[in-house]
Amino acid sequence: MEQTFTVRDSSFLAHSFDWDFRDADTKEGTHVIHSYPAMMIPQVARHLIAWLRQLHPEAQTLLDPFCGAGTVLVEAARQRLEAWGNDLNPLAVRIARARTTPIDDDPLLSQLSALDNRLTPLALATWEGPIPTFPGQDFWFKPTVVRALAFVAANIGEIAHANVRNLAWMAFSETVRWVSNTRNSEFKLYRLAPHKLAAWNPDVLAVFRETLARYAEGVRAFSPELRQAPIAPRIVSSDACELSGVPDGYFDLMVTSPPYGDSRTTVAYGQFSRLSLEWLGVPSTEARAIDRRLLGGKASSTPANALPSPTLQAALAEIAHQDGRRAREVETFYQDVDRAIAAITRKLKPGALCGWVVANRTVKRVVLPTDQIIAELSSARHYTVVDNLVRNIPNKRMPLANSPSNVVGDTGATMTKEHLLILRYHGGP
Ligand SMILES: C[S@@+](CC[C@H](N)C(=O)[O-])C[C@H]1O[C@@H](n2cnc3c(N)ncnc32)[C@H](O)[C@@H]1O
Repeated sequence: MEQTFTVRDSSFLAHSFDWDFRDADTKEGTHVIHSYPAMMIPQVARHLIAWLRQLHPEAQTLLDPFCGAGTVLVEAARQRLEAWGNDLNPLAVRIARARTTPIDDDPLLSQLSALDNRLTPLALATWEGPIPTFPGQDFWFKPTVVRALAFVAANIGEIAHANVRNLAWMAFSETVRWVSNTRNSEFKLYRLAPHKLAAWNPDVLAVFRETLARYAEGVRAFSPELRQAPIAPRIVSSDACELSGVPDGYFDLMVTSPPYGDSRTTVAYGQFSRLSLEWLGVPSTEARAIDRRLLGGKASSTPANALPSPTLQAALAEIAHQDGRRAREVETFYQDVDRAIAAITRKLKPGALCGWVVANRTVKRVVLPTDQIIAELSSARHYTVVDNLVRNIPNKRMPLANSPSNVVGDTGATMTKEHLLILRYHGGP
């Protein structure tokens, strides 16, 4: 049974609490909807929000500027907070919407059963509808798979209820990844080895139906609690360095897990999303540009002033000693982190609490303690550190070891622990 977290001395008990959640079910309720790289586990989001609420009992509004699949938003809505999320990846926005939207049993069950009745192998065999195409489609999908996906998509388009339709699109998107010619164990796009590809013959209809049935169960389980939120979570798609469309001076709480580094060298959110987005009708050029638009994705055009973080400066000097170009890339990423902190700060009320869930990175064997760097960058903007707690990450699906020197076989441990950094914003000019 999960531990409860209803205590007065929250700091002391937070530290004696077991944050590892080793055997926890991370796919409860709507958290089952769609895979996504580097998700926060629901239990961390749940207990971190509960902890922050004990430290700030009047809190009513919460922002997640890097919301990804919406783990924090779901847990905030279940705790009756007004939640706002933001993410530049259009797939993340759609997943987060599906995860945070309650749906009544009717229309959910009736419309899904009508869809199920239409999706028969016989109907597929005789179907003659249009088949969408995009560059590289035949590299990533077999012709029979393309036809079956187009058939499923045409039938989803006929679902009358918008929220049921959106849920079905998410099951479709997950199916796209699963039935493609990619290695399913990877978030990046790698094609199956030739001998595996020859034998690859996925049953698109069965995968889609099974996926959608699981999602519908998840929605039914969480809908009563999601309906308790004062307003439905709002999800915006803007650059976290600007947060346009998010109200200023509005938030009591900020809870987020930002990317660990740029998408090219750490987690490739854009690559993960590309095939789904092409099938969901997002223009190819946009679907392929995501990784360049995310944090650290583009070299800054203006040489910025040195960031006010002695920890970062010391690490950059060490990296530059080995590889100047790599040091500039890392600096670009943290310049963006600093711009995101500035944007977030504009959105907070004085007295607001922030919960950053971050892990260290290692570049060229130099450790980049992102918790420390964020604390230092924030202290230059009128924040103080309330707490900093370390947890093990037994569940997260991400590289536990990579090559710090780009020499094959030369591995260094990264990201086996993460920090829950709690900051208070005091307001200021
Ligand atoms: C670690 S993931 C967040 C995961 C999320 N907590 C969850 O549980 O699904 C980081 C997210 O930041 C987003 N991101 C990266 N750079 C961004 C930017 N400049 N503006 C907005 N979102 C960005 C990525 O698309 C990704 O979804």
